[in-house]
Amino acid sequence: EDFLTKTLAGVSIPAAPTGPAVPVTVLWGSQTGNAEGLAKKLVKRLKKGNFEPEMHDMGAYDRSRLPEEKNLLIITSTYGDGEPPDNAADLYEWILSDEAPKLEGVSYSVLSLGDTSYPDFCKCGIDFDERLLALGATRISDRVDSDVDFDQPFKEWSEAVVSVLAPEFEVVQDPTALDQEEDGYSKTRPFPSTILNNYNLNTGGEKETHHIELSLEGSELTYEVGDALGLVPENDPAVVDEILANLPFNTNTEVPLPDGREGDLREALISHYDIGTINKPLIQKWQERSGSPYLRSLVEADDKAAYADFCWGRDLIDLVCDHPADFSDGEDFVGVLKKLQPRLYSIASSPNAHPGEVHLCVGIVRYESHGRKRGGICSTFLSDRSEGLTPGVFVHSNKAFRLPESGDTPLIMVGPGTGIAPFRAFLEERKISEAAGKNWLLFGNPHQATDFLYQEELEGFVADGTLQRLDLAWSRDQKDKVYVQHLMVEHGAELWNWLQEGAAFYVCGDASRMAKDVDDALHAVAEKHGGMSAEEAVEFVKQLKKDKRYQRDVY
Ligand code: 2AM
Repeated sequence: EDFLTKTLAGVSIPAAPTGPAVPVTVLWGSQTGNAEGLAKKLVKRLKKGNFEPEMHDMGAYDRSRLPEEKNLLIITSTYGDGEPPDNAADLYEWILSDEAPKLEGVSYSVLSLGDTSYPDFCKCGIDFDERLLALGATRISDRVDSDVDFDQPFKEWSEAVVSVLAPEFEVVQDPTALDQEEDGYSKTRPFPSTILNNYNLNTGGEKETHHIELSLEGSELTYEVGDALGLVPENDPAVVDEILANLPFNTNTEVPLPDGREGDLREALISHYDIGTINKPLIQKWQERSGSPYLRSLVEADDKAAYADFCWGRDLIDLVCDHPADFSDGEDFVGVLKKLQPRLYSIASSPNAHPGEVHLCVGIVRYESHGRKRGGICSTFLSDRSEGLTPGVFVHSNKAFRLPESGDTPLIMVGPGTGIAPFRAFLEERKISEAAGKNWLLFGNPHQATDFLYQEELEGFVADGTLQRLDLAWSRDQKDKVYVQHLMVEHGAELWNWLQEGAAFYVCGDASRMAKDVDDALHAVAEKHGGMSAEEAVEFVKQLKKDKRYQRDVY
């Protein structure tokens, strides 16, 4: 066999073990595609060894098979307030319910993806892991809870799992294999883009939402409507300088960078390390080097609410200035920091309408807290500091948010605030492809006078027949709040008709409140206009999801 003889990076691969192949079932739960991507990588590697791997989208997996599984590997993310990804929701609910079967013959392990900035870090994976154990399954390797930077945790988890399943097989032959799999520009090698246009879509008022156009010329990057753009920001040099001025060591120094190279500390803090919001792991490390009695009591109490309260509205600079810590040098200091992560933005343009370009619709975050003016790292980078720079970008494909295959399928799109972004792309695409299906957009924002994002374009889509319905929820233009979900209910009969005609229903924007309320409204419409019981409405909406006629891009 090919792999017996191949030598990668000087490491020779052990001979393939003999004996029957080990059956492995990999289930993935993924909202933005990360868990799905890792599942694919894992399967690809398992195929190189004496394994018989199978991979399933949790949403499409026949759960009656579960008790028969021999080796079950679960890779799932968590999003919003500790929720399972949409495709995992059904299996998750069932496995946590009383209906779940005993799983005594099943060996399993879980990799959970999450974000330590959220309180319910990795909840979905944790729940799967604990429940499988409670149902009698055997945990063959400890769960790994990964923060946003998942490549290393994935590597460790997959190696551990494989060493249990087939000790003679080395899963990662080449430590750089992860990077070598992709040619061209990718997350590990972002394309240096230029900003072509950058302006405020709000015409006054409190909100600031920028339309940003970036060039992809020369990158060979392609995307589909529904995809996201990953963008690597730079921190505000003014904040970095204030941090440097308050550190207890000579800051004119070189430090290790997250990618293994060395660089100037100031440059490292601008371009390579996260100097934004703080969280429990950072506070714990900080406290070890700080005499701050406040931090000590916080760490000792180990109370979730107290941590959340302290972290709210505070950044690294607050620790540096208000809770001085005794770092010996630059290396010691950056050792407690996390790598600056790229941010993902839903793409707001169709590549066919704007060849060589990608457009974003970005809410600019500015606020004042604990006596300091602050800004969102990536949003203020784009709005205020990106001119003349070449921010790194890559395409993050989002297969769970796609236009229907047929241009004839009617679309209902619910996208208040910056949730409009992918729907501008959808509408551009439907127009340029001369799709015959009708389109309905529900948009909302505080005030019509100042917050009507893309007003001219949307009115243009109405005028040229691309958009059959445009319903607007100006939440603060009258005494009582009007939101998109209220308009769904108000026009429930029509919405139901569209769904009966086969419409696909899309939601983009705030996950914590809006998307839930819209989901409730969808159920309410099915009950009222479809004459369904509450249970029937739940089944109806589940079926919509299964049929890919209910897709969400929520954050
Ligand atoms: P508000 O800020 O006036 O409450 C985009 O942010 C729009 O979404 C705003 O008009 C905002 O209204 C509105 N919004 C806030 N909470 C919402 C919710 N739970 N459901 C739908 N829209 C909401």
